[in-house]
Amino acid sequence: MINIKNLLSSEDLTKEDLYEIVDLANEIVKSPEDFSHICDGKILGTLFFEPSTRTRLSFTAAMDRLGGKVLGFSEAGSSSTTKGESLQDTVRTVSQYADIIAMRHPQEGAAYLASLTADCPIINAGDGGHQHPTQTLTDVLTISQYKHSLENHTIGLVGDLKYGRTVHSLIKVMNLFDNNKFILISPDELKLPQYVKEEVFDANSQYKEVRNLEEVIPECDILYMTRIQKERFFSQSQYTRLKDSYVLDCEKMKLAKDDMIVLHPLPRVNEIATEVDKDPRAVYFNQVKFGMYVRMALIMKLLEANNA
Ligand code: NCD
Repeated sequence: MINIKNLLSSEDLTKEDLYEIVDLANEIVKSPEDFSHICDGKILGTLFFEPSTRTRLSFTAAMDRLGGKVLGFSEAGSSSTTKGESLQDTVRTVSQYADIIAMRHPQEGAAYLASLTADCPIINAGDGGHQHPTQTLTDVLTISQYKHSLENHTIGLVGDLKYGRTVHSLIKVMNLFDNNKFILISPDELKLPQYVKEEVFDANSQYKEVRNLEEVIPECDILYMTRIQKERFFSQSQYTRLKDSYVLDCEKMKLAKDDMIVLHPLPRVNEIATEVDKDPRAVYFNQVKFGMYVRMALIMKLLEANNA
């Protein structure tokens, strides 16, 4: 049985926890209607201090499909933080109404801070450039659905590896499983931060850093595309220079294995040409759906709700 109160970082999850959540999510995928009353009478609070389409709606849809209800806000401007209320007070207040909270905030560590005063479980739905563990659960469920295993994969991660929190979370988790190799594909300015490398990799880890996508795409089993994170840049001119560093198109897809899958946490800007959407290896919109199912599984686990 999963033994965490909150989900703040992908490091909170052991391999066993991940299998437990993914197994439950796989059951939900097969027969979602069996779970439609599991959270009757429960309330999820969604506190989004930073923009989001998928993550917030995915949490909302997940709780709806479990029979629960949702309250919250989708921008900081509509909360009492504009009056000067501290994050901890806002979260503590909402935890009097809600049984579980999903929150997104532009500052690294915000979800952890919230968890110190909340009277209910906190799920980190993204804290600055730090972590995004429920996107990682989404990615892991997608990999398990298409590849039927979480081991022995060569994973190419492309784009903004510096600010991309989904990448930081995903590498940590996939490194727990045997014999996964990482190819880190980015411009020099957007390389995976040293602190993430130190936290994740040890002498046995297999990874390399390259700049050219075409060179390594034939090796990849999974290609994880990311957008250049405009809002986290200090200089607009640097963003403009780097924003089109990688564009995956049908020409480049010809170089890839027939069973490679392309993932993207979305939103996409320019990094995947829309012509690629028709390629059966492009699974990023199915990934969106798996995100809802895996959040259903996570909410059930943290609320200790079950269908037994
Ligand atoms: C990601 C995020 O917010 O970090 N999106 C998401 O949650 N699906 C990726 C991004 O914004 O680029």
